[in-house]
Amino acid sequence: MSQKIQWGILGTGSIAHKFATGLSFLSDAELVSVGSRNTERANQFADGFDIPNRHPSYESLASDPNVDIIYVATPHNLHCENTQLCLESGKAVICEKPFAINADQATRMIESAQAEKLFLMEAMWTRYLPLMVELQAMLAENLIGEVRMLTADFGFRAGINPESRLFTPKLGGGALLDVGVYTVSLSSMIFGSPTQVVSLAHLGETGVDEQAGIVLGHAQNELAILHTAIRTNTPQEAIIMGTKGRIR
Ligand SMILES: NC(=O)c1ccc[n+]([C@@H]2O[C@H](COP(=O)([O-])OP(=O)(O)OC[C@H]3O[C@@H](n4cnc5c(N)ncnc54)[C@H](OP(=O)(O)O)[C@@H]3O)[C@@H](O)[C@H]2O)c1
Repeated sequence: MSQKIQWGILGTGSIAHKFATGLSFLSDAELVSVGSRNTERANQFADGFDIPNRHPSYESLASDPNVDIIYVATPHNLHCENTQLCLESGKAVICEKPFAINADQATRMIESAQAEKLFLMEAMWTRYLPLMVELQAMLAENLIGEVRMLTADFGFRAGINPESRLFTPKLGGGALLDVGVYTVSLSSMIFGSPTQVVSLAHLGETGVDEQAGIVLGHAQNELAILHTAIRTNTPQEAIIMGTKGRIR
């Protein structure tokens, strides 16, 4: 068996291109297969990244014996279905954010990985930035004392396109699932799972949340105050407040 991890990519959209470019910088990774719903797109993607195996369906990619792990890069609403397909075919999976569109889907995905004894991870890349490693070290050293509150936002102004995955309810559109998840992930890294969730959202003309405010309460009464938007530019910052200081 090759020393390199043999990767497959499921879906040939925008982030799949970036991921394939990123993989090319890793010495222990080899991109060997790609799967698309469309033969032409599979071939085009494969030609662009010099990928030997191109598949005209996700099912065909999932059963490719050359592949160790599959990166799922489809719209949110398909993450569960596509991940399950890969796991049931014996492949490890890195699934794009948001991991799933509800708790029931997430639970099923985790249970499948456990049953198959396969690696499964959400591609929540912000957790692995050098900045986050530094931040975790600062918090572990108690630099700002006991952490009591977090404010964090992630919002940008997109033009309304009812056909795009951002504005289409059936593709899991809306601010929370697209970028709000980054703020929830930061809160989870700092405080763990919340014990209370309160939220208010504005649903726009296409039926997705164009902006939302979320307050998460935790076991020691720590608060995370988060907001997210796809029709409003926000500062895109986070402030962590402790009893002895703040980190911004
Ligand atoms: N980590 C990050 O920084 C980051 C950044 C952007 C996006 N993302 C995540 O990555 C996922 C994909 O986003 P993207 O921007 O790459 O989307 P995209 O450009 O629309 O690509 C999605 C791909 O999924 C496949 N697909 C399967 N069923 C589809 C359907 N019904 N409608 C549209 N596409 C369908 C298509 O590939 P085929 O036609 O080849 O099958 C398509 O090219 C999303 O969940 C998003 O949240 C993550």
